[in-house]
Amino acid sequence: MTTTNIEKTIEWIKIPKGGFSRMINQILIPYEYKKVDVSTTKDMYDAIKTMIVRGAPAIGIAGAHGVALAALEEKESQNFIENVVKKADYLNSSRPTAVNLHWAIQKQLEILKSNKDKTNAQIIDLLIENAIKLENEDIEINKKIGEFGSSIIPKGATILTHCNAGALATVGYGTALGVVRSAFEKDKTIKVFADETRPRQQGARLTTYELIRDGIDTTLITDGMSAYFMNKKMIDVVVVGADRIALNGDSANKIGTYAAAICAKYHNIPFYVAAPKSTIDSSIKTGDEIVIELRNREEITTINDRLICDNRVNIINPGFDVTPNSLITGIITEYGIFKPDEIHKLF
Ligand code: MRU
Repeated sequence: MTTTNIEKTIEWIKIPKGGFSRMINQILIPYEYKKVDVSTTKDMYDAIKTMIVRGAPAIGIAGAHGVALAALEEKESQNFIENVVKKADYLNSSRPTAVNLHWAIQKQLEILKSNKDKTNAQIIDLLIENAIKLENEDIEINKKIGEFGSSIIPKGATILTHCNAGALATVGYGTALGVVRSAFEKDKTIKVFADETRPRQQGARLTTYELIRDGIDTTLITDGMSAYFMNKKMIDVVVVGADRIALNGDSANKIGTYAAAICAKYHNIPFYVAAPKSTIDSSIKTGDEIVIELRNREEITTINDRLICDNRVNIINPGFDVTPNSLITGIITEYGIFKPDEIHKLF
C-alpha cells in the first residue's frame, strides 16, 4: 500500500486538560508547510470558512474537533448541552455544501444527547474519544476506497482529476487520490493529469504537491484543457471526489467537475466519483436539493492579491457544481463500486 508523504492533515492533540486540534494550513501550500493549532470554536469556524482546512472529509473531522472544543469551553456552564448544541450549529454554518461537516457534527451531537446523565467532564472525554475515532476511521476508509478503485484503473492509464481529493482533503491518503495511490502501488506506470482548479487552485497547489512527493508522474493542466487532451486520447479515466452525493447518485464537487464529466461522456471516457458513505446525503433524493456555496468576488477578480480585471465587472462565484448521475460511470466507496442509481442501497 502506498503511504503518502503527507502527515495527518488534521489531528486531535491530547493534553491533560483536554486538548486541541492541529491542522496543516492549506492556504500556505505550496509556499510554506506549516501546522496551526486551533483551540476555540471561533477559530475552528474561521479555519473552515477561510479554508485553512478544506476538502469534505477533512472539514468533517474539523467539525467533530470543533464540537469537542465547544464542550471544553462550556465545561463549567449550567446549560452545558444547550450551549454546545448552539456552538455546533454555528460550526455547521461555516460551509454549506460538503455534507461531511454536518454528518460529523451530528455524530458528536448524538453522543452529547445520549449521555445527558453523565458529568460534563465525562461527556467531554467521550466527544474527544469519538473525534479521534472518526479521524482514524477516515484513513482506513480511504484505503478501502483506494483498493476498490484501483480495480478500474487500466494498466499504464492516465487519470484526470479535478480539485484536490487527496490526503490534504481528508485526514490522510485521500479518496480520488487514494485510488491513484493504490493504483500506483500496483502499477508504477500510471500517470495523472491534474486540473488547475480555478479559482482557488487546489489542483495546482495541493494535488501536484501531494503527487510529486509520492513520485507519481503528474502533469498540471488548466481547467479548459481537458477536452483537448481527451480528444487527443491522452486521458483514459477521470476520478474525482465529492462534497455531497444525493440518493440518486447526483454528485456535487468542485466547480468545473460537471464540465469535465460532460467532456468525458462525449469522448466515451469513464468518469468515477470516489467518496466515503459519509458524503452521501440520504435525506436528499436528487442533486437539485444540494446547496451550492457562493464565494467572494476577490477569488475571481484577483490573483495573488492583484486585480486581473476591471473591478466593475459582475462576478458570480459558485464553489461547486452538481454532476448528474447520467454522466457518472460509478461511485467508488469503502463498500465497493456502485452504479449511481444503486448508491441508495447503502442505506
Ligand atoms: O472548496 P474545497 O477545496 O473544500 O473543495 C474540495 C472538493 O471539492 C473536493 O473534491 C471534495 O471535497 C472531495 S475531498 C476528498
